[in-house]
Amino acid sequence: MTQTTRQILVMGNWKLNGNKAMVADLIGALKAPAAECPNVAVAVCPPVLFLGQAQTLLADSLIALGAQDVDLNSVGAFTGENSAAMYKEFGVQYVLVGHSERRTLHRESDATVAAKFAVVQTAGLTPVLCIGETDAQFEANETQAVVERQLQAVIDHSGIHAFNNAVIAYEPVWAIGTGKTATPDIAQKVHAAIRTFLAGFDAAIAAKVQILYGGSVKGASAAGLFAMSDIDGALVGGAALQAEEFAAIIRAGA
Ligand code: 13P
Repeated sequence: MTQTTRQILVMGNWKLNGNKAMVADLIGALKAPAAECPNVAVAVCPPVLFLGQAQTLLADSLIALGAQDVDLNSVGAFTGENSAAMYKEFGVQYVLVGHSERRTLHRESDATVAAKFAVVQTAGLTPVLCIGETDAQFEANETQAVVERQLQAVIDHSGIHAFNNAVIAYEPVWAIGTGKTATPDIAQKVHAAIRTFLAGFDAAIAAKVQILYGGSVKGASAAGLFAMSDIDGALVGGAALQAEEFAAIIRAGA
């Protein structure tokens, strides 16, 4: 399937990193590269505490704001949680759901992730559905079965049309924070399988949905990944904390 109609999206997931000074420095340093590459969509997902600061700093830029997780509930006695409506007030456009660190460390099930995906969409924001297999599943040749199961949970909950306004991020767990990037060929194969799976439900939606790759993406590896026909950008962890590396990934998408 052709990539020509899908924009490259480069998204930084800052995870539990940063402080006020770093937020100011990093966002300040990313504005110019983002402005130089207007055909690349750029987003950053800082920790919740810095969303307000980031919103102010990003006001005159093309960089979008994302959040890393959301609660299932919109209001009430849920200590420590944040709602999609609160994110909206801070100009958030994207919300990650089902990151492998949430699936593992917070025991989020496919059903919980699917429900969060729906909560984000209902609030008028764009969910970024993170999917991917563990090292053991990769070794056991279960990659396709795992990502199809994770996608099916969302389809069961919200229907295929939910992918009209959503982003998918394929992040093999064995490549996250390990320095082991999937080769462009390995990633492309999975991305194509994801698209083929979705096309079984709706070909137009499958052709349109952006599928990002995540897992140790660096400035040096981004261009090879973006050259693949079904890779539409990157969800970046560690390298998103370094302005020069992240800028190089943005430029690789231009
Ligand atoms: P790294 O780029 O640090 O491997 O993290 C990827 C990731 O988990 C982004 O969500």
